[in-house]
Amino acid sequence: MPEKIPENIKHEIERLVSELNYHCYRYYVLDAPVISDEEYDRLYNKLKKLEDDYSFILPDSPTKRIGAPALDKFEKVRHTEPMLSLDNAFSYDDVIEFDKRLKRLLESSVRQAHDVEEDIEYTVEPKYDGLAIELSYKNGLLYKASTRGDGYEGEDVTPNIRTIKSVPLKIEGVKVPSEIDIRGEVYIDIEDFERLNMERGKNGEPLFANPRNAAAGSIRQLDSSITAARRLHLACYGIGTVNGIELKSQIELITWLEKARFPIPAVVKQVNGVDKVLEVIKEIEEKRNIFPFETDGAVIKVNDFNLQKSLGVKTREPRWAIAYKYPAHQGTTRIIEIIPSVGRTGVITPVAILEPVRIGGVTVSRSTLHNWDEINRKDIRIGDYVVVERAGEVIPHVVTVIKEKRTGKEKRFQIPEKCPVCGSKVAREEGEVAVRCIGLDCPAQVQERIRHFVSRQAMDIEGLGEKNVELLYSKGLIKHFADIYKLKKEDLLQLPRFAEKSAQNLIDAIEKSRHTTLSKFLYGLGIIHVGEYAARLLSANFERLEGIYHIKAEKVMEIKQIGDKIANSISAFFNDSENIRTIEKLKSLGLKITNPDFKEKNKGKMPLDGLTFVITGALPKSRKEVEDMIEGLGGHAASTVSKSTDYLIVGDEPGSKLNKARSLGVKTVTYDELLKILNPNV
Ligand code: IVH
Repeated sequence: MPEKIPENIKHEIERLVSELNYHCYRYYVLDAPVISDEEYDRLYNKLKKLEDDYSFILPDSPTKRIGAPALDKFEKVRHTEPMLSLDNAFSYDDVIEFDKRLKRLLESSVRQAHDVEEDIEYTVEPKYDGLAIELSYKNGLLYKASTRGDGYEGEDVTPNIRTIKSVPLKIEGVKVPSEIDIRGEVYIDIEDFERLNMERGKNGEPLFANPRNAAAGSIRQLDSSITAARRLHLACYGIGTVNGIELKSQIELITWLEKARFPIPAVVKQVNGVDKVLEVIKEIEEKRNIFPFETDGAVIKVNDFNLQKSLGVKTREPRWAIAYKYPAHQGTTRIIEIIPSVGRTGVITPVAILEPVRIGGVTVSRSTLHNWDEINRKDIRIGDYVVVERAGEVIPHVVTVIKEKRTGKEKRFQIPEKCPVCGSKVAREEGEVAVRCIGLDCPAQVQERIRHFVSRQAMDIEGLGEKNVELLYSKGLIKHFADIYKLKKEDLLQLPRFAEKSAQNLIDAIEKSRHTTLSKFLYGLGIIHVGEYAARLLSANFERLEGIYHIKAEKVMEIKQIGDKIANSISAFFNDSENIRTIEKLKSLGLKITNPDFKEKNKGKMPLDGLTFVITGALPKSRKEVEDMIEGLGGHAASTVSKSTDYLIVGDEPGSKLNKARSLGVKTVTYDELLKILNPNV
């Protein structure tokens, strides 16, 4: 063998191997190559040719990374030191408890001489979600790589591990230990995992559930050429047996590993005391989104190896380390059904019923799909496998559909035509994502509708605020829209919030509200898009409520200021026979509606005809709303004050327009005064 090789060739081979390994390290460990891929290939081919010509291959030659014959089975490997697993912490309190426990243990043993209050020195690193392996080196050369297995015995996966370019085949750059077992995690980046799954999906192969399974599946291949084709990475964080060098702490180990060209975790921080540990945990959590790899936690280790030794091991876990697990955010499950759910405001939201899945310690079995546009955009179907995300207390939502898992039996979900709760029609306007139930008496909306109905601008029932509506609803005293007018003092007196006087006050307020105006009543019905102004326009044009029953949209549009959107909404509302029935019920309960806004002469003539308004300062409504109202009532809304301005509407913190108006003698009014002018009854 070597004797036949000319010395200069041997040197050339040695030089090429060393150079190529260095470039490999620059590229795969430091992610900072100093030569081009072509140059690397040129050197590699040169080496390969010399190796072939002289049948001389160094054990750390890069050509030895690939080309091993496929195995029949994996040989078993006994770890000289067991590969331990880690205890978990699921909260900061658990971490604080861990620190306290260690202090207690140390107090009773080694630290007697020390101040018990003294902080313990820790390291904190990300927990890689991959497969633990051990790399065994003798005199600096990698001779065996094994999986963790049961911690005592693993499988020999040397040819596979060799294909990972960031694994040093030879220890260089440091004093070489005669023997060392280095432990770390083999993992795959999230992007590569997704790409791999996509390819597998295309080829009809089963998908990997997560990056960890993908990494494990890639290592446990009898044919190492398959492993070579996967982009696997390594992060080294521990040692087993070591001879010939002395390492005193985790941070010394990490520094040594880095020098010896091993890839190390993306973050390793040495800190004093548990408070600082928590800070690093948070720091790593913030970085999770930008790490290209998956981490599900942070590993906290006592830094000092002597302290580690004195703390010792429980059965399979060291006492000196713990894994803090970040609350899980995502899980994969299947959509069993999609149901429409009616919210308090009548908006109908599609909700996915899921096969229950545990995410961050909580079982998730429903997920909002937001709206129908979202369903279409994400192409979500009944039967789909989906990734569900849960962040904090927010309702879980579907992140994405795993389309590769489709069988063809998945069903699309249609927008319901009727409200699933009350059976009323649903309305969806062009350009709007929301689908709403228009049922006045819809049980899902009764609280919200009543809250609006009794508000000051509508029926003005004092003493019936949100809390009381909720209370009456929860006690079953209000089930339907008309039930407010059935309330009796005796009913109220049974409730915790009511005494004789407050109950009487409410009954009186309800009584008083029986006499109302058509515009207030119409506004109170909460018809979509019908605010106070539109309600007043309707009242000005329809003498009686019954005149609006079953009205056609075109008829409503005859009112100059009402556009098709409002007209369609009014028409839909008054064409719902349930709504008419509910209104009739209210009337039968003694409601008296008058209409002072209606005047025959109002037809065609608007209250603000010919008047020009300018606004300054902040008003209770948005500027746009007030301008719309002015225009709707026949007035003109201008932006600058001039001699032809009739009124300046002055809000809070008025601008220079006020001075100008004063100097020109233009009349000024507040918003409330304007409303009074328009409707003296308000
Ligand atoms: S230390 C005795 N450090 O987590 C300490 N492990 O749940 C043993 N892991 O089997 C391991 N990242 O596969 C350590 N920075 C890290 C780690 C880490 C991932 C894995 C390792 C271990 C498992 C325990």
